[in-house]
Amino acid sequence: MCGIVGYVGQQESAGILLGGLRKLEYRGYDSAGIAVQSDENRVRVLRCRGKLDALEALLAADSPKGHAGIGHTRWATHGRPSDENAHPHFHSGVAVVHNGIIENHLELKEALRAAGHRFTSETDTEIFAHLISDAQGAGQDLLSAVRAALVKVHGTYALAVISERSPGQIVVAKNASPLVLGLGRGEQFVASDVPALLAHTRDVVFLGEGEMALLQRDGVRIFDERGGEVHRAPRRVDWTPLMAEKGGHKHFMHKEIHEQPQAIADTIRGRASVESGDVHLGGLTLDAGGAVALGRGLLVACGTSWHAALVGRIYLETLARLPVEVDLGSEFRFRDPLVSPGTLAIAVSQSGETADTLGALREARRQGARTLAISNVLDSAIPREADDVLYTHAGPEIGVASTKCFTTQLAALFLLAVKLGRLRGVLSPEAAQEQLTALRQVPQWIEEVLADEARIAAVASRLTSARDLLFLGRGPQFPVALEGALKLKEISYLHAEGYAAGEMKHGPIALIDSNVPVVVLATPGPGYDKIAGNIEEVRARGGKVIALCAQGDERIPRISDEVLRVPPAPPLLLPMVTVVPLQLLAYHVADQRGTDVDQPRNLAKSVTVE
Ligand code: AGP
Repeated sequence: MCGIVGYVGQQESAGILLGGLRKLEYRGYDSAGIAVQSDENRVRVLRCRGKLDALEALLAADSPKGHAGIGHTRWATHGRPSDENAHPHFHSGVAVVHNGIIENHLELKEALRAAGHRFTSETDTEIFAHLISDAQGAGQDLLSAVRAALVKVHGTYALAVISERSPGQIVVAKNASPLVLGLGRGEQFVASDVPALLAHTRDVVFLGEGEMALLQRDGVRIFDERGGEVHRAPRRVDWTPLMAEKGGHKHFMHKEIHEQPQAIADTIRGRASVESGDVHLGGLTLDAGGAVALGRGLLVACGTSWHAALVGRIYLETLARLPVEVDLGSEFRFRDPLVSPGTLAIAVSQSGETADTLGALREARRQGARTLAISNVLDSAIPREADDVLYTHAGPEIGVASTKCFTTQLAALFLLAVKLGRLRGVLSPEAAQEQLTALRQVPQWIEEVLADEARIAAVASRLTSARDLLFLGRGPQFPVALEGALKLKEISYLHAEGYAAGEMKHGPIALIDSNVPVVVLATPGPGYDKIAGNIEEVRARGGKVIALCAQGDERIPRISDEVLRVPPAPPLLLPMVTVVPLQLLAYHVADQRGTDVDQPRNLAKSVTVE
């Protein structure tokens, strides 16, 4: 939700800021802007409504010169997308970019207005420029002035500030929204996320909650909430700049779908020992005693990660014999939940910063749960607050529609389930070996699906003018049906709903006629006969069936209009495989409809508001 970049060094900053924002555009794309401090200490702001291309056109005509600057790409919360509401906000020599929400901004605005301040935007952010310039006017240096402003605000923020009174300095602060510093030689960087830094440095420092930092050309200094200096060694990230490029694909989403075999292999590597049936999860401190004492699992997540959590419940119940509940991060806290003793609360979030999931994790923890984070982003807020962490190794995911993060979450949840099954003594070494051997084949099965892309694209071409679609699945394929429908609606803007196939007769069947394509996950497993029956019910009402079935299946093709084949993976592992044709189906429908696949309207990749 909004991307922030900053640069101070010897190079011209405008191009660096724009390049960084390009890598963060997935965080929001309603408007964008930069502020650059010239060598004469003047700060110039250029900003406009629309995607980065609009800002780039402005810069092409008149690029501000200077060696320090900040930039922002916005996902609107307070104030509609417009030139005036675009960041940076500027007042009296101070320019500010902000990601987050200031809850008491109306009171602060009122007080500032009473003192003679005039505001030019509807945003909550603009108050920072006024508060900081006032403090600097009273003689404070930039660091103290930002601190003084922060004392007055309640809310969440990642903030970057430059000031005409403080040449060569950027001050940043973090509370709940992410910020990572990039360390260079004679130049320093800051960004909301690592991909914005990769072209310049892989040595990074993640800022902690309540921390501030002062960036100057020759180094960075970090301070805690009380102003004490913090010395933290940088970490070297193993992501490469190439990973944040499209690499010849038309869209990031397409590249990321094709990266899934590798991403899953990377997530499993070094963790699954097929020889012994053991799983090694470095970030999990739970021992056998702790695992046996667990009474319940609680998975919390949002969106696609919630779908992964629904599959995760099946893994944990089947392989670890642990009773599990799954809750939406956005619902959990608001229903006065009960967390029983011995609960392992697992927050699943690719970004590690989804506010609702973080809130749910905090509530579970407050009630005494042991906590575990499953995330793709090193040191992000959710892993940082959890007792244990299990990282997926999907690499940077730039497309707003999540693909490889979903399948790697499933791989991580599967590993966790095998691990807990072994620790709890309910999964024999032989059974674990069998599960892990099958898991290792998932990348190859996905390759086989990817090889069928032309056929999936052809099926997609017959769906582009559908108005409504249904996705049906049972057991582990029910969450895949939900995910297939979500992928399609978020990037193609077609209306699609996922249902547990057995629920169709309790309502959704009323929707079916010859204009409603129904995608049915008809793969092997305990519900196979029943799902074949569901297909017959759809056909009896004139519905068009697009079935996913196993290679070699002869029954389902006879009762379906279109068939997509998947390799015969075991039912528990099939979700990692069957979701891939659904991702490709959504991708090709959207691409053929000409929508903005990587940056669908109204969405942002990380949702740091509740
Ligand atoms: C999925 O394509 C979306 N990007 C969205 O549903 C996403 O999964 C959700 O916002 C949760 O994000 P997280 O995994 O970063 O917590």
